[in-house]
Amino acid sequence: MIFRPAVEGDLDRLLGCVVDEGISWAHPDRLLSFLESGDYRHAWIWIAEENGEILARAVWWGSPDAGKPLALDCLYVHPSVDDPIGLAADLLGHAHAAYDDKPAYHVFVSNGWRDDPTSAAAIAWRRTAAGRAGLTEELERLRYEWTAEAGAPKPSGRLEFRGEDDDELFVAAFRRVAVGTLDHHTREALVTMDPDAQARQDVAGYRSMPGERSWWRLAYTADGELAGVALPSANGGGPVVGYLGVVPEHRGRGYVNDLLGEITRNHAARGVQRIVADTDAGNVPMARAFERAGYRNFAIRLVLSPPPSHT
Ligand SMILES: CC(C)(COP(=O)(O)OP(=O)(O)OC[C@H]1O[C@@H](n2cnc3c(N)ncnc32)[C@H](O)[C@@H]1OP(=O)(O)O)[C@@H](O)C(=O)NCCC(=O)NCCS
Repeated sequence: MIFRPAVEGDLDRLLGCVVDEGISWAHPDRLLSFLESGDYRHAWIWIAEENGEILARAVWWGSPDAGKPLALDCLYVHPSVDDPIGLAADLLGHAHAAYDDKPAYHVFVSNGWRDDPTSAAAIAWRRTAAGRAGLTEELERLRYEWTAEAGAPKPSGRLEFRGEDDDELFVAAFRRVAVGTLDHHTREALVTMDPDAQARQDVAGYRSMPGERSWWRLAYTADGELAGVALPSANGGGPVVGYLGVVPEHRGRGYVNDLLGEITRNHAARGVQRIVADTDAGNVPMARAFERAGYRNFAIRLVLSPPPSHT
């Protein structure tokens, strides 16, 4: 068995790999358009090959300006392979060694996938293979969408929203909002990082997204106290909620509705037809707020990642 990154000459055979197991995958249209846009690169597609036939294929995604792959997008093994778990784990292991990194695997499935034998089986073998290759942590995120028919809420007038040019104000607000968060990624980062560094990293991450910096807002109460942050944004797929949060001393007053309303209005005012958002299944106050605001849970994102390094 040969394990290697793909080259342009492999394209026809790469397009011939089909995953029909009820989960997201790098189908031919996606493969061609992402290779064109730079979201996929041949060097970030690894194959296991025998006698000129592709027996396994792993496709990583990274934004067009990224210097390294950021997420595993698709894992395929040919149906004739006796040990798909072993082969997929080996393939991931070879690529991880070359990358000197283990990007997380993001798989999209329908709600209720556990009750669907096809999707449940598709996830089961991939989860085991990914785990053998070091992606042992599992997180379930709820995907929400708002469409223009749902309408944007009117402002309650309880909070004043201000744009601020100074990123330092957002760093300070992110730091306060991270205290007591139910968001897994933030909690995990705070185990190993200084809160200021964690806030800076998050602000830099949102800065690097395609959404406009001028959309960012800080929210203040009538007394002039900071209540929270609201960052409408966008990614390669279109408008997203981005980030919002309430400072701990103002939680439990429903301000989350005001912040989410402000983000929804920001996008709606520009004629946006669809806004997408993800939140952890365990972030119940956030999930409830999406549902109150007319966002619909349309899918699940499973994230398999390496354990946090406690260095
Ligand atoms: C999620 C969040 C915005 C909710 O804000 P909020 O305005 O307090 O939400 P609500 O007023 O609707 O709160 C509903 C209930 O959840 C509780 N709650 C809210 N946030 C909580 C938290 N982080 N931990 C524990 N309980 C929380 C509230 O106290 C309230 O309880 P009650 O009904 O017993 O009074 C807020 O927790 C937050 O800023 N978290 C950190 C950032 C975050 O997770 N952002 C979303 C990322 S996708």
